[in-house]
Amino acid sequence: MSSQVNHYPGIFISFEGIDGAGKSTHIPFISQRIQERFPNKRVLLTREPGGTPLGEKLRQILLNDPMDAKTEALLMFASRQEHLSKVIEPALLASDIVISDRFTDSSFAYQCGGRGLGIRDLNILERWVQERSFQNNHFLLQPQLTFLFDLSANVAEERRRSSRTPDKFEELDVDFFNHVRNEYLRRATEDNQRFVIIDSSQDIQTIQHQLNACIQQL
Ligand SMILES: Nc1ncnc2c1ncn2[C@@H]1O[C@H](COP(=O)(O)OP(=O)(O)OP(=O)(O)O)[C@@H](O)[C@H]1O
Ligand SMILES: [Mg+2]
Repeated sequence: MSSQVNHYPGIFISFEGIDGAGKSTHIPFISQRIQERFPNKRVLLTREPGGTPLGEKLRQILLNDPMDAKTEALLMFASRQEHLSKVIEPALLASDIVISDRFTDSSFAYQCGGRGLGIRDLNILERWVQERSFQNNHFLLQPQLTFLFDLSANVAEERRRSSRTPDKFEELDVDFFNHVRNEYLRRATEDNQRFVIIDSSQDIQTIQHQLNACIQQL
């Protein structure tokens, strides 16, 4: 394995963070800024689980039906395989910019951190689904930039409570989300070239300012 990057000509960016951390709030802003910075490129907004017709069906099942933790992990990666092969890879090959609301870091955060599955098992799934060869480069396909919206589980719960009815994950307790958050932070430390950690307790304008500065460096 040579590297954990994206060797395709397109740009791949992911948004991560616990439920209620602010991903959806900031994606429209960032996609607009990116489109302004790269006016001739196509900017594609997508999400996980989902992003394809089959993936969206799996999303409904994943967010609503109780299931064994391993089943959950396998369905997340099944949705991801579909997403990569049908949407993300063709777009990256065509030099597009792909912005995904969640990607593999979510699987580690929720299924390992939250549900307690082994990191080594998820590493195997990650390799199976994301290893690629392109122009003599052998690599693990990852976003080149991941924004981690970091927020305490308590504040995230307050924000969710005032804005929506909870799905299967959002009904889980603060303790669950603390574990999810810690696994996100572990991944970010392990791969600090790729991650930008955003302190989501700040106000929206301050965060937008920070996001914009990162986009200008792309
Ligand atoms: N910086 C902020 N300050 C105050 N409120 C915020 C901030 N960012 C987001 N919010 C509010 O918090 C709520 C949750 O945000 P959002 O839906 O963007 O989270 P999310 O990360 O997309 O969650 P999910 O993973 O469940 O989709 C929304 O009501 C949003 O308006
Ligand atoms: Mg969201």
